[in-house]
Amino acid sequence: MNIHKKYIEKHQKRFLEELFDLLRIPSVSADPAYANEVIRTAQAVKEQLEKVGCDSVEICETDGYPIVYGEKIIDSKLPTILVYGHYDVQPADPLELWDNDPFEPIIKTTDIHPEGAIFARGSCDDKGQMFMHIKAFELLQQTSGLPCNVKFMIEGEEEVGSENLEVFVKKNKEKLANDVILISDTGMLSNTQPSITTGLRGLSYMEVEVTGPNRDLHSGLYGGAVANPINILTQMIASLHDQHNHITIPGFYDKVEELSKAKREEMAKAPFSLEAYKNALNIEAVYGEKGYSTNERKSIRPSLDVNGIWGGYMGEGSKTVIASKAYAKISMRLVPNQNWKEISRLFAEHFTSIAPAGVTVKVTEHHGGEAYVTPTDGIEYQAASKAYEDAFEIKPIPVRDGGSIPIVALFEESLGSKTILMGFGLDSDAIHSPNEHYGVFNFLKGIETIPLFYQNFTQLFLEKNR
Ligand code: BES
Ligand code: MN
Ligand code: MN
Repeated sequence: MNIHKKYIEKHQKRFLEELFDLLRIPSVSADPAYANEVIRTAQAVKEQLEKVGCDSVEICETDGYPIVYGEKIIDSKLPTILVYGHYDVQPADPLELWDNDPFEPIIKTTDIHPEGAIFARGSCDDKGQMFMHIKAFELLQQTSGLPCNVKFMIEGEEEVGSENLEVFVKKNKEKLANDVILISDTGMLSNTQPSITTGLRGLSYMEVEVTGPNRDLHSGLYGGAVANPINILTQMIASLHDQHNHITIPGFYDKVEELSKAKREEMAKAPFSLEAYKNALNIEAVYGEKGYSTNERKSIRPSLDVNGIWGGYMGEGSKTVIASKAYAKISMRLVPNQNWKEISRLFAEHFTSIAPAGVTVKVTEHHGGEAYVTPTDGIEYQAASKAYEDAFEIKPIPVRDGGSIPIVALFEESLGSKTILMGFGLDSDAIHSPNEHYGVFNFLKGIETIPLFYQNFTQLFLEKNR
C-alpha cells in the first residue's frame, strides 16, 4: 500500500470526527437566526486550515458572512492551485422528514453506501466535500510533501448567491492569482464509475407578486366577478411552457448553445438507466422538453421551475376567501451563451405583459449566474482524469451537470483561470433534501484522489511551461 493510502487508513477515524465537529454547527446562511453559528463555522474552518499547516490564514470580513482564506506558497516557480468550497448549508427543514437530527451526524449503511454514509445537513454539500481538501492538504504535508502552491478560499454564502464573494474576488485578483481552481461541490455517476463534471448550468432566480383587489374578499360575494390573483398567477405560470414543454418567453432560446449531433451522441454514451431513474424517484414517467433525452434535459437544455407558490388561506379547515395577493418563486436554469441578466429581463417583461387587466404584477430578481463549461483538452482535465483513474482504477467520464455554482463563471472572468470540478457526491445523496448524506467511501476516496490531482497537475504544468 502506498504512503497516502496508509496515512488515510491510519487517520480516517479522526478525519471523520473532525468532519462531524463541523457538521454539528448549523451554518444555515439563508436564515438570520443562525448568524452566530455561520460565523462560528468560519472560525472552525480557519482553525482547521491553521492546524494542517497553511501559512497565513485569515477571516476576511464582507458585507455578509466572512470568507476564510489560507495559503501555503512554497515556490513561485511552481503552479498554484486555488481550492474553493463553501461552509454554509441549506436550511434543514422540513425537519419532521429527517430520521436523525440534521446537525447531529450519524453513520448508517444504505444500499448504495454499504461502507456507511454520514447523515447530516451539509455532509455532501459542501462541508464533507470541502473538508476532503483540508485533509488532502494535511496528507501531503505529512507524507510526500506538497508538490505545488495552494490557496484556500472557503465562503459562507454559496447557498444564497455568493454576492459578497463576487465583490471579494474582484477586489483581490492579485491575492487569488492561480493556475487552476479546484472545487469539490458536484457529483459523480457512481462509486464504480467516476465522472468529472465538465458543465454547470447558469441560474436566474425571480420572485413574482400578483395583486388583485385592494383587500381580501368574501369568495361568495365577489367570486366570479373579479380577478382572483391566485387563479391568475397559476394561469400565467402554466402559460410559461407550451404543449411540447418549450419555454414560451420570447427570446428565451435565442442564444442557447445547440450541440452538434456528434456531441449529443458522445454524451449519450454515458451509462444511464431510465428505469433506475424513475424507480429511485417513484415516478411512472419522466417529463420534459420534446426532442431531448432525460440527460440532455437536465444538463444542456435550459429549464424553468416554480420553487414555491403561496397566497390565500393555508391554515386548518376552510375559509372562503379571494386573497388580494399571490406569490411565486421561479428559477430558470441556463446553458452556455444565455446571459442571466438578460434572461431575468426577458422574464420580467414577458411576465408583466401577460397579466390581464384587473391585476398588477411585480417582478423582482433574486440572484443568478452564468453557465460554465470546462474544456476536456486542457491539462487540468488531464490531471484530474488521471487522478481518478489511479484512485478508482477506471477512467472517469466527462459529464455536464444540471446544478449551478454561479461563482465559477465569474472566476474565469475575473481571475482568468479554468475551474476543474472534482465532485465525489452521488445524485442519491439527497443534497438540499431531508436525510442528506455522504458516503464514507466517497469522503475517503476524495482524500485519496485530490493529492494525485495536485501531483499530476504540477507535472503537466511544468512540462507545458518548460
Ligand atoms: N453544490 C451545489 C451545486 C451542484 C450540486 C452542482 C450538484 C452540480 C451538482 C450548490 O451548493 C448549489 O446548491 N447551488 C445552487 C445555486 C445557488 C446560487 C443557490 C443550485 O444549484 O441551486
Ligand atoms: Mn454546494
Ligand atoms: Mn447547495
